[in-house]
Amino acid sequence: MKDIYVLGIESSCDETSSAIVKNGREVLSNVINSQIAIHEQFGGVVPEIASRNHTEAISKVVKESLNKAQISMEQIDVISCTYGPGLVGALLVGVSYAKALSYALKKPLVATNHIHGHIAANYISHPDLEPPFLCLIISGGHTHLVHIKTYTEFEILGKTRDDAVGEAFDKVARVIGLGYPGGPKVDKLAKEGKLNIELPKTHFDNLDFSFSGIKTAVINLHHKNPNINKADLCSSFEKVVTEELLQNTLKAAKSLKIDKIALAGGVSANTYIRNEFLKLQNKGYKIYYPEPVLCTDNAAMIASSAYYKYLKGEKTDLSLNAVPNLKINE
Ligand code: KG4
Ligand code: ZN
Repeated sequence: MKDIYVLGIESSCDETSSAIVKNGREVLSNVINSQIAIHEQFGGVVPEIASRNHTEAISKVVKESLNKAQISMEQIDVISCTYGPGLVGALLVGVSYAKALSYALKKPLVATNHIHGHIAANYISHPDLEPPFLCLIISGGHTHLVHIKTYTEFEILGKTRDDAVGEAFDKVARVIGLGYPGGPKVDKLAKEGKLNIELPKTHFDNLDFSFSGIKTAVINLHHKNPNINKADLCSSFEKVVTEELLQNTLKAAKSLKIDKIALAGGVSANTYIRNEFLKLQNKGYKIYYPEPVLCTDNAAMIASSAYYKYLKGEKTDLSLNAVPNLKINE
């Protein structure tokens, strides 16, 4: 079969990224222009500022991805972009740019769901991984337990009823004074802490999650006792969150008789969560997670996801629009 080169564009939140991926799995370049430093001073992503910075960065980022991959625009087979979920103004920058490229170069356009991209990051890091498998998507905006039936068919088994895991990490970090984005900072500090603080754990009969209770408990403890050991707070927080993630994932794996479990999304870069999931290997499960740079937002994962949609004939036309609330099975 002829090699297929996909150019991917990601702009759903605060990273402007462009990547060239060969045959869905081989990354030739993955340029990520992060706006973290810009949003840090506001304690979170400011949508208007994000859109403006995407507009300024997109051309440079796309050109750099082609240069790094040592490939010309004409050699690209497919143009792809994230069209949702995400911030509408941010998404529109990537969508418009991808549409313009597709029109000008007469190349097929494939639009991808950002969450499908996070899942596909695992195909890049694990060339042997194929569906079916379970995927726990844990990011700043999402917490979903999904049955990946095929490369393009997804069934949601459980989701958060309130905060996403990353949101809880970021909020806890902000309140105890660690700054933004909080996830990596909590991860680092937790390594020095002891698991000695009692925190509430949620349990539902189905496979849903909830993280607002534990987030509020941590914040209240800190407010009542500002001298409380922050490292202990972080490690106790991580422990309870991880138990909840593990409990539902295992329940789903047992009932569906699936032994392959993948993690995806920014929070899957967390060291404690990764190590706790790795322990499941002793029980016969195979555990997958992307390398850290592919856990957080990037365009290589978008190009990989788009490759599989392209193989299925899922092309789009210039009527494509951004869909900020796009669902996983759309
Ligand atoms: O996937 P992502 O880049 O963006 C979304 O699609 O939401 O995820 C960003 C989230 C942030 O909440 C960030 O704090 C969290 O991932 N994160 C982490 C770690 N690295 C990033 N959370 C915990 N531990 C980490 N090491
Ligand atoms: Zn993301």
